[in-house]
Amino acid sequence: NRCIYLIRHGESMLNLLGRIGGDSDLSERGRTFARRLGEWIDERCCDKDRPPLRVWTSHMHRTIQTAAFIKTPHVLSHWKALNELDAGVCEGMTYEEIAEKLPTEFANRDKDKFNYRYPQGESYGDLVARLEPVIMELERQSHVLVVCHQAVARCLLAYYMDVKHADLPYVRVPLHTVIRLTPVAYGCISEQISLDV
Ligand code: G3H
Repeated sequence: NRCIYLIRHGESMLNLLGRIGGDSDLSERGRTFARRLGEWIDERCCDKDRPPLRVWTSHMHRTIQTAAFIKTPHVLSHWKALNELDAGVCEGMTYEEIAEKLPTEFANRDKDKFNYRYPQGESYGDLVARLEPVIMELERQSHVLVVCHQAVARCLLAYYMDVKHADLPYVRVPLHTVIRLTPVAYGCISEQISLDV
């Protein structure tokens, strides 16, 4: 039976500072999550009669570091298409800084978060288009762990759970939680498993 494990990277140094974007390393707590995730996957995905687990990360340090403790044999790929939504000129800023320095941008995003495109960056709509090849390949695979980012996880979840565009940018994807997606006839079951980090 097919299943997709979807997770955000562990807490990063920039998450700790409340800054968006960038390419920072995991925090101490993020590394603890990565170790726990490795054990959790090793316990569940060690069936030698199944094809090896596919582990997909983005090109960013924080997702690669999150997948680094998996010991069970697996096939690892890094997809640039899984990189976090590009916040353009707002990369590295806090939401308070954006509200203060670029109030019009901040307000426009609030009005239509799905279609809002950061100057020199991307919108959720752009991200949905960028993820199309990932989704096509996911549909062909039976057993995949996708280690990605908040906005990317929202888009992938929205595809499987049939979430409307207007609601997609607000889907809750908690840190340090595995989302198990099991395709069933005419839909998908989604379960959240917190690894308590
Ligand atoms: O900037 C990347 C964040 O993961 C997306 O969060 O779209 O709610 O600002 P946001």
